[in-house]
Amino acid sequence: MDITELSKQYDFTGKTVVLTGGTGVLGREMASGLVGLGAKVAVLDRNTEIPEDYQTKVEAGPGKYLVVSGDVLDRSRLEDARELIVSAFGQINCLINAAGGNHPAATTKPEQVFSDLPEDALQFTLDLNLLGTILPCQVFGKEMIKHQSGSIVNITSMAAERPLTRIPAYAAAKAGVSNFTRWLAVHMAQEYSPEIRVNALAPGFFLTSQNRFLLMEEDEKTLTARGRQIISHTPLARFGMPEDLLGTLFWLLSDASRFVTGIIVPVDGGFSAYSGV
Ligand SMILES: NC(=O)c1ccc[n+]([C@@H]2O[C@H](COP(=O)([O-])OP(=O)(O)OC[C@H]3O[C@@H](n4cnc5c(N)ncnc54)[C@H](O)[C@@H]3O)[C@@H](O)[C@H]2O)c1
Repeated sequence: MDITELSKQYDFTGKTVVLTGGTGVLGREMASGLVGLGAKVAVLDRNTEIPEDYQTKVEAGPGKYLVVSGDVLDRSRLEDARELIVSAFGQINCLINAAGGNHPAATTKPEQVFSDLPEDALQFTLDLNLLGTILPCQVFGKEMIKHQSGSIVNITSMAAERPLTRIPAYAAAKAGVSNFTRWLAVHMAQEYSPEIRVNALAPGFFLTSQNRFLLMEEDEKTLTARGRQIISHTPLARFGMPEDLLGTLFWLLSDASRFVTGIIVPVDGGFSAYSGV
Protein backbone atom coordinates (compact mmCIF):
# COMPACT_ATOMS: atom_id res chain seq x y z
CA MET A 1 0.00 0.00 0.00
CA ASP A 2 1.11 3.52 -0.78
CA ILE A 3 1.67 4.96 2.70
CA THR A 4 0.52 8.44 1.65
CA GLU A 5 -2.89 6.85 0.94
CA LEU A 6 -3.02 5.69 4.57
CA SER A 7 -2.53 9.22 5.87
CA LYS A 8 -5.49 10.37 3.74
CA GLN A 9 -7.82 7.89 5.42
CA TYR A 10 -8.62 10.39 8.14
CA ASP A 11 -9.93 12.82 5.56
CA PHE A 12 -13.72 12.52 5.91
CA THR A 13 -14.52 14.98 3.13
CA GLY A 14 -17.79 13.99 1.47
CA LYS A 15 -18.64 11.37 4.13
CA THR A 16 -21.92 11.60 6.03
CA VAL A 17 -21.82 10.67 9.71
CA VAL A 18 -25.00 10.30 11.78
CA LEU A 19 -24.29 10.87 15.47
CA THR A 20 -27.00 10.12 18.03
CA GLY A 21 -26.69 11.94 21.35
CA GLY A 22 -24.51 14.40 19.47
CA THR A 23 -25.37 17.48 21.54
CA GLY A 24 -24.10 15.76 24.72
CA VAL A 25 -20.68 16.24 26.27
CA LEU A 26 -18.85 13.48 24.40
CA GLY A 27 -20.99 13.86 21.26
CA ARG A 28 -20.15 17.55 20.88
CA GLU A 29 -16.44 16.75 20.85
CA MET A 30 -16.97 13.97 18.30
CA ALA A 31 -19.06 16.22 16.03
CA SER A 32 -16.61 19.10 16.02
CA GLY A 33 -13.67 16.74 15.43
CA LEU A 34 -15.39 15.12 12.46
CA VAL A 35 -16.52 18.43 10.94
CA GLY A 36 -12.88 19.52 11.32
CA LEU A 37 -11.88 16.52 9.17
CA GLY A 38 -14.39 17.48 6.47
CA ALA A 39 -17.34 15.22 7.38
CA LYS A 40 -20.99 16.12 6.97
CA VAL A 41 -22.20 15.45 10.50
CA ALA A 42 -25.91 14.99 11.23
CA VAL A 43 -26.48 15.12 14.95
CA LEU A 44 -29.67 13.40 16.10
CA ASP A 45 -30.65 14.32 19.63
CA ARG A 46 -33.69 14.77 21.80
CA ASN A 47 -32.09 18.02 22.93
CA THR A 48 -31.28 20.37 20.05
CA GLU A 49 -29.98 23.23 22.18
CA ILE A 50 -26.27 23.84 21.92
CA PRO A 51 -24.12 26.70 23.21
CA GLU A 52 -23.79 29.52 20.65
CA ASP A 53 -19.99 29.59 20.82
CA TYR A 54 -19.93 25.85 20.09
CA GLN A 55 -22.21 26.28 17.06
CA THR A 56 -19.95 29.03 15.69
CA LYS A 57 -16.84 26.93 16.24
CA VAL A 58 -18.20 23.80 14.63
CA GLU A 59 -19.68 25.63 11.65
CA ALA A 60 -16.26 27.13 10.91
CA GLY A 61 -14.90 23.65 10.07
CA PRO A 62 -14.45 22.47 6.51
CA GLY A 63 -17.30 19.96 6.85
CA LYS A 64 -21.00 20.49 7.42
CA TYR A 65 -23.12 20.33 10.57
CA LEU A 66 -26.83 19.71 10.96
CA VAL A 67 -28.82 19.15 14.16
CA VAL A 68 -31.95 17.06 13.78
CA SER A 69 -34.47 16.63 16.57
CA GLY A 70 -35.11 12.95 17.20
CA ASP A 71 -35.56 10.19 19.71
CA VAL A 72 -33.53 6.99 19.46
CA LEU A 73 -36.50 5.10 20.91
CA ASP A 74 -38.99 6.26 18.28
CA ARG A 75 -38.60 4.32 15.05
CA SER A 76 -40.88 6.48 12.94
CA ARG A 77 -39.06 9.68 13.96
CA LEU A 78 -35.76 7.93 13.20
CA GLU A 79 -37.07 7.06 9.74
CA ASP A 80 -38.15 10.68 9.19
CA ALA A 81 -34.69 11.82 10.31
CA ARG A 82 -33.08 9.38 7.87
CA GLU A 83 -35.05 10.85 4.95
CA LEU A 84 -34.13 14.38 6.01
CA ILE A 85 -30.42 13.53 6.43
CA VAL A 86 -30.19 11.68 3.11
CA SER A 87 -31.83 14.55 1.25
CA ALA A 88 -29.54 17.10 2.94
CA PHE A 89 -26.24 15.18 2.89
CA GLY A 90 -26.66 12.14 0.62
CA GLN A 91 -25.51 8.57 1.35
CA ILE A 92 -24.97 7.74 5.03
CA ASN A 93 -21.46 6.35 5.50
CA CYS A 94 -21.09 6.20 9.27
CA LEU A 95 -23.25 5.93 12.39
CA ILE A 96 -22.13 6.65 15.95
CA ASN A 97 -24.54 5.64 18.71
CA ALA A 98 -23.68 7.99 21.56
CA ALA A 99 -27.15 8.58 23.02
CA GLY A 100 -27.14 6.85 26.39
CA GLY A 101 -26.72 7.23 30.09
CA ASN A 102 -27.99 6.22 33.49
CA HIS A 103 -31.17 7.43 35.19
CA PRO A 104 -30.18 8.88 38.60
CA ALA A 105 -33.04 6.96 40.24
CA ALA A 106 -31.57 3.69 38.90
CA THR A 107 -28.54 4.13 41.19
CA THR A 108 -28.37 2.35 44.54
CA LYS A 109 -27.77 4.62 47.56
CA PRO A 110 -28.02 4.11 51.33
CA GLU A 111 -31.53 5.59 51.18
CA GLN A 112 -32.51 3.62 48.05
CA VAL A 113 -31.40 0.00 48.18
CA PHE A 114 -31.37 -2.36 45.19
CA SER A 115 -34.75 -3.92 46.08
CA ASP A 116 -36.40 -0.49 45.97
CA LEU A 117 -35.01 0.78 42.64
CA PRO A 118 -38.09 1.95 40.74
CA GLU A 119 -39.06 -0.10 37.70
CA ASP A 120 -39.56 2.95 35.49
CA ALA A 121 -35.99 4.16 36.13
CA LEU A 122 -34.61 0.68 35.43
CA GLN A 123 -36.68 0.40 32.23
CA PHE A 124 -35.62 3.89 31.11
CA THR A 125 -31.94 2.99 31.47
CA LEU A 126 -32.24 -0.40 29.77
CA ASP A 127 -34.22 1.05 26.87
CA LEU A 128 -32.15 4.17 26.28
CA ASN A 129 -28.82 2.34 26.12
CA LEU A 130 -29.72 -0.96 24.49
CA LEU A 131 -32.86 -0.42 22.39
CA GLY A 132 -31.63 3.13 21.73
CA THR A 133 -28.59 1.57 20.01
CA ILE A 134 -30.42 -1.22 18.21
CA LEU A 135 -33.15 0.94 16.61
CA PRO A 136 -30.74 3.46 14.98
CA CYS A 137 -28.66 0.51 13.69
CA GLN A 138 -31.83 -0.87 12.07
CA VAL A 139 -32.94 2.43 10.58
CA PHE A 140 -29.59 3.92 9.46
CA GLY A 141 -28.10 0.47 8.80
CA LYS A 142 -30.74 0.06 6.08
CA GLU A 143 -29.02 2.85 4.13
CA MET A 144 -25.66 1.10 4.57
CA ILE A 145 -27.17 -2.17 3.34
CA LYS A 146 -28.57 -0.32 0.32
CA HIS A 147 -25.11 1.02 -0.54
CA GLN A 148 -23.28 -2.12 0.67
CA SER A 149 -20.87 -0.15 2.84
CA GLY A 150 -20.67 1.66 6.14
CA SER A 151 -19.07 1.84 9.55
CA ILE A 152 -20.98 1.79 12.83
CA VAL A 153 -19.43 2.69 16.19
CA ASN A 154 -21.46 2.05 19.33
CA ILE A 155 -20.56 3.61 22.66
CA THR A 156 -20.44 1.09 25.47
CA SER A 157 -18.72 1.44 28.86
CA MET A 158 -16.24 0.02 31.34
CA ALA A 159 -19.34 -1.24 33.17
CA ALA A 160 -20.08 -3.69 30.35
CA GLU A 161 -17.33 -6.27 31.01
CA ARG A 162 -17.09 -5.96 34.80
CA PRO A 163 -20.14 -4.22 36.25
CA LEU A 164 -19.44 -1.15 38.33
CA THR A 165 -21.13 -0.92 41.71
CA ARG A 166 -24.42 1.00 42.18
CA ILE A 167 -25.63 1.15 38.55
CA PRO A 168 -27.09 -2.29 37.77
CA ALA A 169 -29.35 -1.39 34.84
CA TYR A 170 -26.73 0.77 33.15
CA ALA A 171 -24.11 -1.97 33.47
CA ALA A 172 -26.51 -4.63 32.16
CA ALA A 173 -27.61 -2.41 29.26
CA LYS A 174 -24.02 -1.60 28.24
CA ALA A 175 -23.15 -5.32 28.44
CA GLY A 176 -26.01 -5.71 25.98
CA VAL A 177 -24.53 -3.00 23.74
CA SER A 178 -21.16 -4.79 23.65
CA ASN A 179 -22.82 -8.13 22.93
CA PHE A 180 -25.04 -6.60 20.23
CA THR A 181 -21.98 -4.94 18.63
CA ARG A 182 -20.38 -8.33 18.11
CA TRP A 183 -23.65 -9.84 16.89
CA LEU A 184 -24.30 -7.08 14.37
CA ALA A 185 -20.71 -7.16 13.09
CA VAL A 186 -21.09 -10.82 12.13
CA HIS A 187 -24.63 -10.36 10.80
CA MET A 188 -23.80 -7.39 8.56
CA ALA A 189 -20.69 -9.06 7.14
CA GLN A 190 -22.31 -12.44 6.52
CA GLU A 191 -25.79 -11.39 5.44
CA TYR A 192 -25.11 -8.15 3.58
CA SER A 193 -21.57 -6.97 2.92
CA PRO A 194 -18.05 -7.36 4.34
CA GLU A 195 -17.81 -3.62 3.69
CA ILE A 196 -20.19 -2.92 6.59
CA ARG A 197 -18.27 -2.93 9.86
CA VAL A 198 -19.53 -2.60 13.42
CA ASN A 199 -17.32 -1.82 16.43
CA ALA A 200 -17.60 -0.12 19.79
CA LEU A 201 -15.70 2.30 21.98
CA ALA A 202 -15.64 1.69 25.72
CA PRO A 203 -14.78 5.01 27.37
CA GLY A 204 -13.30 4.90 30.83
CA PHE A 205 -14.26 7.66 33.25
CA PHE A 206 -14.97 11.06 31.80
CA LEU A 207 -16.22 13.74 34.14
CA THR A 208 -19.60 14.79 32.71
CA SER A 209 -22.95 16.09 33.90
CA GLN A 210 -24.30 12.52 34.23
CA ASN A 211 -21.67 11.20 36.62
CA ARG A 212 -20.34 14.37 38.28
CA PHE A 213 -22.52 13.78 41.36
CA LEU A 214 -20.91 10.35 41.78
CA LEU A 215 -17.31 11.49 41.33
CA MET A 216 -17.03 15.01 42.79
CA GLU A 217 -18.20 16.53 46.06
CA GLU A 218 -20.44 19.60 45.87
CA ASP A 219 -17.43 21.92 46.21
CA GLU A 220 -16.42 20.71 42.69
CA LYS A 221 -12.80 20.31 43.85
CA THR A 222 -12.75 17.27 46.10
CA LEU A 223 -13.15 13.75 44.74
CA THR A 224 -15.79 11.52 46.31
CA ALA A 225 -14.65 8.16 47.69
CA ARG A 226 -15.78 6.64 44.36
CA GLY A 227 -13.85 9.27 42.40
CA ARG A 228 -10.70 8.51 44.43
CA GLN A 229 -11.15 4.77 43.88
CA ILE A 230 -11.42 5.26 40.12
CA ILE A 231 -8.32 7.42 39.90
CA SER A 232 -6.35 4.96 42.02
CA HIS A 233 -7.39 2.19 39.58
CA THR A 234 -6.48 4.21 36.49
CA PRO A 235 -2.76 3.80 35.70
CA LEU A 236 -2.75 7.06 33.72
CA ALA A 237 -4.05 8.69 36.95
CA ARG A 238 -6.71 11.08 35.64
CA PHE A 239 -10.25 11.21 34.28
CA GLY A 240 -10.57 11.13 30.51
CA MET A 241 -11.12 14.28 28.47
CA PRO A 242 -13.67 14.09 25.63
CA GLU A 243 -10.94 14.70 23.04
CA ASP A 244 -9.15 11.53 24.25
CA LEU A 245 -11.78 9.52 22.34
CA LEU A 246 -11.18 11.10 18.97
CA GLY A 247 -8.15 9.20 17.63
CA THR A 248 -9.79 5.83 18.29
CA LEU A 249 -13.14 7.02 16.94
CA PHE A 250 -11.62 8.28 13.66
CA TRP A 251 -9.69 5.03 13.28
CA LEU A 252 -12.80 2.87 13.76
CA LEU A 253 -14.92 4.99 11.41
CA SER A 254 -12.35 5.19 8.65
CA ASP A 255 -10.84 2.71 6.22
CA ALA A 256 -7.71 2.71 8.39
CA SER A 257 -9.53 -0.06 10.32
CA ARG A 258 -10.94 -1.74 7.21
CA PHE A 259 -10.09 -5.30 8.45
CA VAL A 260 -11.49 -4.66 11.93
CA THR A 261 -15.03 -5.56 12.93
CA GLY A 262 -16.76 -6.75 16.09
CA ILE A 263 -14.27 -5.30 18.57
CA ILE A 264 -14.69 -3.16 21.68
CA VAL A 265 -11.83 -0.71 22.19
CA PRO A 266 -11.30 0.58 25.74
CA VAL A 267 -10.22 4.22 25.94
CA ASP A 268 -9.77 4.20 29.68
CA GLY A 269 -6.29 5.25 30.80
CA GLY A 270 -5.52 1.59 31.53
CA PHE A 271 -8.44 1.02 33.95
CA SER A 272 -9.43 -2.31 32.36
CA ALA A 273 -5.83 -3.60 32.39
CA TYR A 274 -5.17 -2.96 36.07
CA SER A 275 -5.88 -5.65 38.68
CA GLY A 276 -5.48 -3.17 41.54
CA VAL A 277 -2.21 -4.70 42.85
N1 LIG B 1 -19.18 10.32 30.35
C1 LIG B 1 -18.60 9.17 30.65
O1 LIG B 1 -17.75 9.05 31.52
C2 LIG B 1 -19.00 7.96 29.88
C3 LIG B 1 -18.30 6.78 30.11
C4 LIG B 1 -18.65 5.64 29.42
C5 LIG B 1 -19.67 5.69 28.49
N2 LIG B 1 -20.34 6.87 28.28
C6 LIG B 1 -21.40 6.84 27.29
O2 LIG B 1 -21.10 7.79 26.29
C7 LIG B 1 -22.31 8.26 25.70
C8 LIG B 1 -22.36 9.78 25.75
O3 LIG B 1 -22.29 10.18 27.11
P1 LIG B 1 -22.13 11.70 27.58
O4 LIG B 1 -21.26 11.65 28.77
O5 LIG B 1 -21.77 12.56 26.43
O6 LIG B 1 -23.61 11.98 28.07
P2 LIG B 1 -24.56 13.25 27.81
O7 LIG B 1 -25.71 13.08 28.74
O8 LIG B 1 -23.79 14.50 27.87
O9 LIG B 1 -25.05 12.99 26.33
C9 LIG B 1 -26.06 12.09 26.00
C10 LIG B 1 -26.91 12.72 24.92
O10 LIG B 1 -27.92 11.78 24.54
C11 LIG B 1 -29.13 12.52 24.33
N3 LIG B 1 -30.28 11.63 24.50
C12 LIG B 1 -30.75 11.09 25.66
N4 LIG B 1 -31.84 10.35 25.41
C13 LIG B 1 -32.07 10.43 24.07
C14 LIG B 1 -33.06 9.88 23.22
N5 LIG B 1 -34.03 9.10 23.68
N6 LIG B 1 -32.98 10.18 21.90
C15 LIG B 1 -32.00 10.98 21.41
N7 LIG B 1 -31.05 11.53 22.18
C16 LIG B 1 -31.08 11.26 23.49
C17 LIG B 1 -29.10 13.60 25.40
O11 LIG B 1 -29.99 14.67 25.06
C18 LIG B 1 -27.63 14.00 25.38
O12 LIG B 1 -27.39 15.05 24.46
C19 LIG B 1 -23.44 7.58 26.49
O13 LIG B 1 -23.83 6.41 25.82
C20 LIG B 1 -22.78 7.21 27.79
O14 LIG B 1 -23.42 6.14 28.41
C21 LIG B 1 -20.03 8.01 28.95
